[in-house]
Amino acid sequence: VKDWWKTHFSRKSLEGYGLPKKTSAEVRGVAKMLGLRAPADVLDLCCGTGRHAVGLAALGHRVTGLDWSAELLAAAAEESARRGVTLDLVRGDMRRLRYRRRFDAVVNLFTSFGYFETEREDIAVLNGVRRALRPGGVFLIDVLNKEWLMRHFTPKFRQDNPEGDVRRAYNRLSFDPVTSRLDNRRTVISRDGRKRETFLRFKVYTLHDLVRLVETAGMKVQKAYGGFDGRPYGLDTFRTVLMAQKTPAKRSSGA
Ligand SMILES: C[S@@+](CC[C@H](N)C(=O)[O-])C[C@H]1O[C@@H](n2cnc3c(N)ncnc32)[C@H](O)[C@@H]1O
Repeated sequence: VKDWWKTHFSRKSLEGYGLPKKTSAEVRGVAKMLGLRAPADVLDLCCGTGRHAVGLAALGHRVTGLDWSAELLAAAAEESARRGVTLDLVRGDMRRLRYRRRFDAVVNLFTSFGYFETEREDIAVLNGVRRALRPGGVFLIDVLNKEWLMRHFTPKFRQDNPEGDVRRAYNRLSFDPVTSRLDNRRTVISRDGRKRETFLRFKVYTLHDLVRLVETAGMKVQKAYGGFDGRPYGLDTFRTVLMAQKTPAKRSSGA
């Protein structure tokens, strides 16, 4: 179960969530929230198939996509070639970012956070993000809103989003209030009727939890949204989209 993320994520694992339909609106929303003039240097941390990275590159940004999954990085390379944009794709572990003052923005989207056993590892990710940002650079993180989950917890639900090879998915959730970990045992039915069992586990965070983590890592929270359309965060928004900033460099007087 530990390190489940090393083997879980694949093209197929990201199918059945209706992502192709949502992606262009998400990219527009992210670009608007970041408010960067192109070309800016952007890191898509845990870029997966590169669906946002490609969109941000198409807006004129210089985008680096980092992910652990070689398969997903290959998908991102294909997609960037198809769309005629350039991405810098890097295989790496989000806990071990090596960048120093390299990016104007770092984004971490679609609950690509909370996969590790300890809070130390969460903070290691966020410290890496802060170091990777230029002074004044911004960090945008998008995760499932724990408050929403607690109010609408449904232990079993079905997704009918015919997409790629996936026809339908059955989700069986369990939540551990002590660790705040959500487990999902997901049965995926492919178009030809075959069944696959998958498992994913991530920690869910309240806005309060996230603010504390981001501030522990030395970034300043700027704004909390409840979705990519820029709606305000609320207890009943499905997503938490938090925007934080690395402290701008002090201007020396007279400069
Ligand atoms: C839920 S997916 C989201 C992908 C993408 N951001 C999107 O919105 O489609 C999470 C991604 O995190 C990546 N990932 C998981 N653990 C990682 C780690 N330790 N370091 C880097 N990437 C990781 C997975 O390979 C996967 O692509």
